[in-house]
Amino acid sequence: MSRAKRIGVLTGGGDCPGLNAVIRGVVKAAVYKYDMDVLGFLDGYAGLLKDNFIRLDGDKVSGILPRGGTILGSSNRDNPFRVPEMENGELIFRDRSDEAIKTLERHGLDGLIVIGGDGSLAIASQLMGKGVMVIGVPKTIDNDLGSTDVTFGFDTALVTATEAVDKLHTTAESHHRIMVLEVMGRYAGWIALQSGLAGGGDIVLIPEIPFVIDRVIDAVRERTYRGRTFSIIVVAEGAIPAGGSAVVKQVVKESTDPVRLGGIGGWLANELEQRIEAEVRVTVLGHLQRGGSPTAFDRVLATRFGVAAGEAAVKEGWGIMVALRGTEIVNAPLGEAVSQLRRVDPNSELVMAARAVGTCFGD
Ligand code: F6P
Repeated sequence: MSRAKRIGVLTGGGDCPGLNAVIRGVVKAAVYKYDMDVLGFLDGYAGLLKDNFIRLDGDKVSGILPRGGTILGSSNRDNPFRVPEMENGELIFRDRSDEAIKTLERHGLDGLIVIGGDGSLAIASQLMGKGVMVIGVPKTIDNDLGSTDVTFGFDTALVTATEAVDKLHTTAESHHRIMVLEVMGRYAGWIALQSGLAGGGDIVLIPEIPFVIDRVIDAVRERTYRGRTFSIIVVAEGAIPAGGSAVVKQVVKESTDPVRLGGIGGWLANELEQRIEAEVRVTVLGHLQRGGSPTAFDRVLATRFGVAAGEAAVKEGWGIMVALRGTEIVNAPLGEAVSQLRRVDPNSELVMAARAVGTCFGD
């Protein structure tokens, strides 16, 4: 049986704790055990277009396990199928995927491991359609990728968000305030739901359960009636007022994911301040959720994903995304994994448990 001898690796999309642990896992599995050559392309797909890479060996990955970010750099703007260029003063998008593929061919690579979220993995899937051998590794703090129970990076973001909920409690209690915490997650409410549950948030607003502002106000008033002089609201950046739409901060045309959500926390605070006596303060947690050293859970998961991707490459098991199902690492078809987002099920046991401990979802 033939086996792969040279592979490429890249990290695409927003950075996330655990990327380095995956890179290390891939390299250790492929180089130490099978003596493969591994090229790391820099800054996501830009590295393929610019033929910008480093050779990854044991020395390069030594000591990177606990480091956040990615030693390869990343980008969510460099889609080889849609490269922005100015032509006669106008922004146009050009398909330069053939150039990216030529880079892989020039280096005699058997295939490419793409560590990314839905945008980067969808591009990987498109490259696969043009004959490139790819393997995906599911990365994102949003935890919204299909075919896997969890993505690496989520746990670290969750710990950061939970710490924020804990810390906001002290000011909320001391000043009898309503503290609003806006967290990331795009169109999925995993970070908001689970940090709200872990930190004892009183009101949790997620995209999957549109909220009614009157219900949120009722919940705060009911707490006051019961002698609770403060409230903690955890709101996902993608939360939607019933009949309305998500608050968009910015549209970045060149991005693989052009819509930047953000601002719902401020909107909510403004609505509450007009109708409730208590003072309201907003914290937008932002990129703190993507930063720092991965948790032990993320280091272990990322390492397992990296090793599984390296092993799959050696065995030429292309066209898959490594995934966690229950306690097992499995190979899921890449096309299936990128075909739909995994969002919170409003009828799930998780949501029911939150409701059972008194969490209000504003519905
Ligand atoms: O997908 C990860 C994520 O952090 C989202 O939660 C957030 O909406 C987005 O990326 C922010 O992107 P950027 O870093 O480009 O502002």
